[in-house]
Amino acid sequence: MDHFLYRNGALHAEDVPVADIAAEVGTPFYLYSTATLTRHFKLFEEALSPLPHLVCFAMKSNSNLAVVKTLGDLGAGVDVVSIGEYLKAKAAGIPAERIVFSGVGKTRGEMRIALEGGLRQFNVESEPELHALSEVASGMGLSAPITLRVNPDVDAKTHEKIATGRKEDKFGIPIARARDVYAEAARLPGIEVVGIDVHIGSQLTELAPFEAAYGKVAELTRTLRADGHDIRRLDLGGGLGIPYARSNAAPPLPTDYGEMVKRTVGDLDCEIEIEPGRLISGNAGILVSRVIYVKGGEDRTFLILDAAMNDLIRPAMYGAHHDIVPVTEPEPGIEPHSYDVVGPVCESGDTFAKGRQMPPVAEGDLVAFRSAGAYSAVMASEYNTRPMVPEVLVHGHQFAVIRARPTFDEMINRDTIPKWL
Ligand code: LLP
Repeated sequence: MDHFLYRNGALHAEDVPVADIAAEVGTPFYLYSTATLTRHFKLFEEALSPLPHLVCFAMKSNSNLAVVKTLGDLGAGVDVVSIGEYLKAKAAGIPAERIVFSGVGKTRGEMRIALEGGLRQFNVESEPELHALSEVASGMGLSAPITLRVNPDVDAKTHEKIATGRKEDKFGIPIARARDVYAEAARLPGIEVVGIDVHIGSQLTELAPFEAAYGKVAELTRTLRADGHDIRRLDLGGGLGIPYARSNAAPPLPTDYGEMVKRTVGDLDCEIEIEPGRLISGNAGILVSRVIYVKGGEDRTFLILDAAMNDLIRPAMYGAHHDIVPVTEPEPGIEPHSYDVVGPVCESGDTFAKGRQMPPVAEGDLVAFRSAGAYSAVMASEYNTRPMVPEVLVHGHQFAVIRARPTFDEMINRDTIPKWL
């Protein structure tokens, strides 16, 4: 459930008409709902209680400071995958002990900054990374808390580009090698083993792959404890999917996920961490755009919007579906029209949807892409020298621009001309 609903014929974000924000901010823009972010975070909190746990929001899904602070103020931790995200988490007021650092390619420089600023743990993904971290931490006279990310060789049954837990994927240490690598970790200076990490992919719509992976983690926990390691924390990653198309069957809910977590690892006396991104931020955001032209083609109608693939890359990149709805509520029973919904960017890949059945809209109308709070603004670019799309946060009757659209002067002045020109 989200807080983008029609009221009196107009789409609202919580208590604010979306059209009012469009009039003030201009289009396109991302719009997030505080109430939805809060609701989704709390669903996970409740799903995992009474187990000792920490819900670490995967910042890669939405790293706006205001979004991160909204969640941090509720008690969320964060999962970061770059020092940029780490520094943003700090700037948003997330305490060091709630920051988990994941990623296959952490550099020594990144490790140093995170160790200086403090963190909950590194999720280490390879033996070379383990050695590098040992060197860096011991050189600083510190001990780095770590989990090892294991690759359980489980197929998450999701889109090819976002499955991460099969042996052919670049992530983690093959689970069969885990015992040896843990033994190595225990011998290294500057390393303190605190647990195990696993993340098998994103937008999972079934619990079975999670269950298979977590079962393997439970077994590994017992083995490693018998080997003498202090396994006290299990980071179970993120990945629970969301309903992108309202017409499709809904994926399992956080409550179902929580029950499965308890069933698989609940009796191990471990602190549980999870790293949900999409489920918290995905349906907490929309992308609002205006129709520039309705262009009749030979056998189709193109709806040309002022949002483009540079603002929302998911359809072009993953063939992803986003529901697109008019901001003015359609008359009940109105006949849908078929549109190819496109942006103004100069390539055919700039297509949001082909043959999309939706209520008829006209030049100048506003439309909203649903489920655009995750992996949307964060993946935007300035391709075609289109300004980075701004972001707005609603809270009840209030709204605030939380990232402004750059001016053309700002964009132009970011480039510099060398002295020989
Ligand atoms: N933890 C780790 C280590 C991850 O790699 C990810 C996502 C998450 C947590 C969060 O997963 P979530 O709960 O959001 O599914 N750009 C793609 C999604 C990439 C996901 C990458 N990793 C998309 O637009 O669908």
